[in-house]
Amino acid sequence: MKPISIRLRLTAWYVAVLLASLTLFGVAALLTKKKGIEKSVDESLEGQAAGVEEVMGRVLEKEPARLQDELREHQELREQADFLQVYDQDGHWIYRSRLMTHYDVPVPVKASYSAYNVMSVDLPLRVLVRPMSAGGATYRIQVAAPMDDFYDAIDRFKWMVLLLSPVLLVLASVGGYWLSGRALAPVDKITRAAQQINSNNLAKRLDVPRSGDELQRLSQTLNHMLDRLEASFNRITQFTADASHELRTPLALMRTTTEVSLRTSQTIADYREAQKEILAELERTSSLVEKLLLLARADAGVETMRRDVVNVADCLRDACEDGKVLAEAKHLTFLEDIDAKKLFIEGDSHALHRLFLVLIDNAVKYTPTGGSVSVSLTQSHGSCIAEFRDTGIGISADDMPQIFERFYRADKARSREFGGVGLGLSIARWVAEAHKGSIEVQSTPGTGSVFRVHLPLLES
Ligand SMILES: Nc1ncnc2c1ncn2[C@@H]1O[C@H](COP(=O)(O)OP(=O)(O)OP(=O)(O)O)[C@@H](O)[C@H]1O
Ligand SMILES: [Mg+2]
Repeated sequence: MKPISIRLRLTAWYVAVLLASLTLFGVAALLTKKKGIEKSVDESLEGQAAGVEEVMGRVLEKEPARLQDELREHQELREQADFLQVYDQDGHWIYRSRLMTHYDVPVPVKASYSAYNVMSVDLPLRVLVRPMSAGGATYRIQVAAPMDDFYDAIDRFKWMVLLLSPVLLVLASVGGYWLSGRALAPVDKITRAAQQINSNNLAKRLDVPRSGDELQRLSQTLNHMLDRLEASFNRITQFTADASHELRTPLALMRTTTEVSLRTSQTIADYREAQKEILAELERTSSLVEKLLLLARADAGVETMRRDVVNVADCLRDACEDGKVLAEAKHLTFLEDIDAKKLFIEGDSHALHRLFLVLIDNAVKYTPTGGSVSVSLTQSHGSCIAEFRDTGIGISADDMPQIFERFYRADKARSREFGGVGLGLSIARWVAEAHKGSIEVQSTPGTGSVFRVHLPLLES
């Protein structure tokens, strides 16, 4: 089934609410009108009954025998409203007017004071009963008023409401449909604009109406979402482009080396030399592919960290063992100052080893022969701080904000010479953040750099 549009649903709700209001209003108006009429008729009947009571009181006191005649004379003045009957406590008629006899209004069930409606020979009547006592006897005065005119007026009102309601409902539906169309027009505009945006024009944004309402918030929220999508899309595109570029260089080198060697090598030694070059490139490429795979898996959320209890001191000592070998090969002094204390954190020892090795590798790589690299571990305010200090080339203020970006290298030629592709620090930052930690850097070009990794310690 085709879903019903918001516009139609709004209109339907609008009409339903209007219909309910109209019904409520009609019923309430009719009831109020009827009660009001009955109240004023009752008041007039009350006046009549009081008049009759006064006459009866007077006559019964002076000449009780003339009671009927006096009542007839009293009633004759009121030709049109000649509805009166009086009877005593035994149910004997004292007086019954002509119209009361004609319409044969029954004696009420209740003998006490009351007002009620009866239907007598097709004539709706409002009847009032008023008991009175005089000379030790009890009488009941019953007066009545015809209600046909009033009820006709109420009927006319009822019909008017019933006939007008459909017209009103049709008008309201058309008006409601038009109004909801107007209210939803900006949403349609946003939808159309959003449909235009795709991967080719991700920089495009929706117009934000300055209305201060939900629509302004909706457009702003969608625009912020587009900002985030564009940033990740660009990151991914850049990553793919950089990765392909990085892979192309070693492949081209291996191809050229092979071609040249095939063309010019004459001795086994020549071939061995070419093979060595190719092997070095292959090692570099494998390391690159491994790093790329790790980052891609991290992005996809597949690469998950283990959550073991790890002694950071042990982990750092392991990384330093590898570091010493690297430093020795480059004739650097390697200093290690790691607390004998155990410092426990929750995390993945392999990933942490990798993080420390990235920083030691950088310190060694970017420190010229004769310099020194020192690693230390301290504890402060619920965290442990692993510090990697070198006396190397340092990082300029311009490069500093970018060094953690993927494939960023301050000096591409020099970095490549050391086998770097610019992914080490991206991986290091990912590992630190996955452990709820952070990395900070201080560096003076020409003097050296300090990288500090902060990791939250386990509480107990
Ligand atoms: N200790 C350091 N001293 C000076 N420059 C550094 C240091 N560490 C990092 N850098 C600079 O930051 C850049 C990025 O470092 P990163 O470790 O991400 O990449 P890389 O070392 O070039 O390659 P690899 O992916 O092999 O680690 C380096 O190219 C270098 O310019
Ligand atoms: Mg590196």
